[in-house]
Amino acid sequence: MANRRLAPADVQPASFAFTAENENWAEGQIAKYPPGRQASAVIPLLWKAQEQAGGWLPQKAIEAVADKLGMPYIRVLEVATFYTMFNLEPVGRYHIQLCGTVPCHNCGALDLKEVLRRRIGEQNHVTADGTFSWIEVECLGACCNAPMAQINFDYYEDLTPEILEKILDDLAAGRPVKPGSQQGRRSSEPKDDVKALTDPALFDGSVIGAWRKRFEEEAIKELETRTASEAAAATASAPSQPKPAKPDAGRAIESEAANTPAKRAKEGETPVKPDDPKGAADPGKAFVASNKERPESQPAPQSDKSYTMTPSKPEEGRTAADAKTGRGSDG
Ligand code: FES
Repeated sequence: MANRRLAPADVQPASFAFTAENENWAEGQIAKYPPGRQASAVIPLLWKAQEQAGGWLPQKAIEAVADKLGMPYIRVLEVATFYTMFNLEPVGRYHIQLCGTVPCHNCGALDLKEVLRRRIGEQNHVTADGTFSWIEVECLGACCNAPMAQINFDYYEDLTPEILEKILDDLAAGRPVKPGSQQGRRSSEPKDDVKALTDPALFDGSVIGAWRKRFEEEAIKELETRTASEAAAATASAPSQPKPAKPDAGRAIESEAANTPAKRAKEGETPVKPDDPKGAADPGKAFVASNKERPESQPAPQSDKSYTMTPSKPEEGRTAADAKTGRGSDG
């Protein structure tokens, strides 16, 4: 950004004072703010002073605003030199601010600059008849309709060198000119082939319906894929030869005793043999026969049924040494 300084002394007016009408207007602006905050009206007052002075701010106008608001001159000067909407040097009756920022630059602002140079001269130069002046500025916020320029208070958009030349011709001749897009665009609607909101499908629901159908199809597809992968995983984890169930697991096993009086009687043999222990014929006493009364060669008498628990792991609950000797953990 260029340095912004006050205009040379030879173009500065000797004095400045608001007109009665502008004085009233200024009082109205100041009254908007609470006592002690009158300085908040500095920008509207500078704006009105610039308008009254012919489009630029003489030094005396800046000082007049400072006096009215009770501010030091330097504080008002800081404001006037900071904001580019305040022109510090005289301008033409039509002051053109050409946007040179990237979007406008890419859309042909350089060619427009050439037109202004040729028709008006360098920047900050006022034509001899006082009609035109121009300056390059940063983005004016109408990039959608680039390239563009502001002339006094209006925007002129979608410019071409030919269109800009015609606008300058019309202004110089006092003919009316139309602000806004110079190529028929409404506001900042799409350029050229405008299709936005013109497709009937947007209004009959079919576009929305198509989207919904697509979502439903995708959901069904996803469900099928998930079901198939879960079934495949279940098949892969199942054993090829399932183990037979153990019906006796956890229950007492009942089996025929090997050589009991009852079994012998059942098989037609003499139930009690001479060398059987005493009381062997009595099933109720079979289990009370002592080892002393039983010859070593004879097995212990049994009933016709024997009950044994499901075999357990022999070493379970015993030390490894006990498991080998067949003793319990208590010795
Ligand atoms: S870049 Fe030109 S108006 Fe924004």
